[in-house]
Amino acid sequence: MEEVHLTRPGNILVVGSLNLDWVLRCRKIPRPGQTVHGNSLSEVPGGKGANQAVAAARQGADVRMIGRVGDDPFGAKLREDLRREGVGSDAVYATPGARSGLAVITVEDSGENAITVLAGANAQLKPADVRRAESLFKEADLVMLQLEIPLDTVLAAIELARGAARVLLDPAPAPGRFPPELLRVDILCPNETEAAALTGLPADTDEEAEVAARRLCELGAGCVLLTRGARGVTVATQVDGNVWSVPSPAVTAVDSTAAGDAFAGAFAARLMWGDDLRGAVNHAVLAGAHAVTIPGARDSLPTLADVEGLRRKAAVS
Ligand code: RIB
Repeated sequence: MEEVHLTRPGNILVVGSLNLDWVLRCRKIPRPGQTVHGNSLSEVPGGKGANQAVAAARQGADVRMIGRVGDDPFGAKLREDLRREGVGSDAVYATPGARSGLAVITVEDSGENAITVLAGANAQLKPADVRRAESLFKEADLVMLQLEIPLDTVLAAIELARGAARVLLDPAPAPGRFPPELLRVDILCPNETEAAALTGLPADTDEEAEVAARRLCELGAGCVLLTRGARGVTVATQVDGNVWSVPSPAVTAVDSTAAGDAFAGAFAARLMWGDDLRGAVNHAVLAGAHAVTIPGARDSLPTLADVEGLRRKAAVS
């Protein structure tokens, strides 16, 4: 990835989903056909798009978002939440007759989760919506995308951003089939499952992760940040063919929900503040590690002070 040193923080534009998250905690995620007792239920704002926008804003970035919510009471709450977090939400539209996106998240005591998303209004975010907001693309230095909105819309956003802004794609949830141009982005940020789905290669061991990350560069990604939970991140860059890793600090995991969003948002924010690739990845790894220590999606996204606190702790341990 080309390294750019900015004299002012760049603008981030997120084109993505907003969901209401229903978070159910239980001892162990049920197997198919099994019924288990839950311990608690909470209702919080979420969605990979909104989470990444908030994650970047909490790290001091200037962030705007394009998305769709329903014309239900949840939609108004989700937009209000973005405003409160300092994310520009003028291009988050209410969709008549649609319900807001909903995610049912089951979290077990080990911190692992299983998520089922009902797209709702997110499915109505059309290429015309992003074209309508073309001026936001002209002002953006980095466009962040995920795959909880229609693929056509993601491709239209990549097209609009091309040549003007860098594009970071978090390919989650991984699509079964995808056009090759989806991977031709400046920064691709999959986890192991998504990397395996995109390449057809396993990405579990260190060696497998390196091979999968290299393969994603061959398929067109300028830089690949393959996130591997407690094992940290494997980074591959097309320009020099280098592959290297950053370990994650040891933390007590209580809930891995949105750790990937914390990572992507923090990485983007640091890039916008002029960090080089290694500096931004180091910072983002700490943000992701912090997120797994706090229950919930939105609640777990760290502030700059949280990340600095973990950096100091990791340095002395
Ligand atoms: O990445 C976590 C998010 O995935 C949750 O907030 C949920 O809404 C789903 O989109």
